Amino acid sequence: MSDPTAAELDRALAAFDAAQFDPRVLRRAAEAWATRAQNEHASIASFARFSLGLLAVGAPPQLIALAHRAALDEIAHAQMAFAIASAYSGTRLGPGSLDLAGALDGNADLGALVEATVLEGCVGETLSALEAREEAGLATEPAARVALARIADDEARHAELAWAFVRWAMEVEPGLVEPVGRQFRDVLARAAAGPPEARCFEPELGAFGFLSREAQSALRRRAIGEVLAPAAEAMTKPTMDRAVTRSRGSVGARE
Ligand SMILES: [Fe+2]
Ligand SMILES: [Fe+2]
Repeated sequence: MSDPTAAELDRALAAFDAAQFDPRVLRRAAEAWATRAQNEHASIASFARFSLGLLAVGAPPQLIALAHRAALDEIAHAQMAFAIASAYSGTRLGPGSLDLAGALDGNADLGALVEATVLEGCVGETLSALEAREEAGLATEPAARVALARIADDEARHAELAWAFVRWAMEVEPGLVEPVGRQFRDVLARAAAGPPEARCFEPELGAFGFLSREAQSALRRRAIGEVLAPAAEAMTKPTMDRAVTRSRGSVGARE
């Protein structure tokens, strides 16, 4: 690893002293980081699949490049998370094989690719980015703090890529605007009501970079109300309104 975050993480891990922590809490933190590492590892495959989907639907090369870069980010996230889980557990941990059965099903269909992107990218990565930012601020263990700051920055860019792709898809296929708007309303209503995947971390894991269930739910509700719902509504307004918003937006963005 040669980037500055990796060097900073290496220093933090070299200075890590397990004796400073309650062994029971450290064991739980190691398990939680190992789970996070597996999820990051699976995200590499998600972006590999997304890159192929973008090629299949004729997306612009800039989006394809960003999807490949995002896959490299996810490799770095998985490496950092496995290194942290290894340090906490005192055992060398790494990824296993990944089941890719059916991974490309429906990937070449623009509507299906957009639907998956709204769920996993626009909503999922936006929430992940905001959670990682909060968790980076919460973490007092230096290795966790360093890794989460990098993850938060990257996830925010991944979310931007998802929104950019959905915007492009609606330009080439205006018939998608209405179903995308409907899907956002459904997904956000479900997420606000309490996502089934809500994590369940005891407050003492905050020092290792994990929000409690209560804190995660509160953050999600705030993110949905203040960020996601307004952004989704603006993006899926009827065409006339969208054209006006876009031209105004482009003037403002260059100030
Ligand atoms: Fe990630
Ligand atoms: Fe990501």
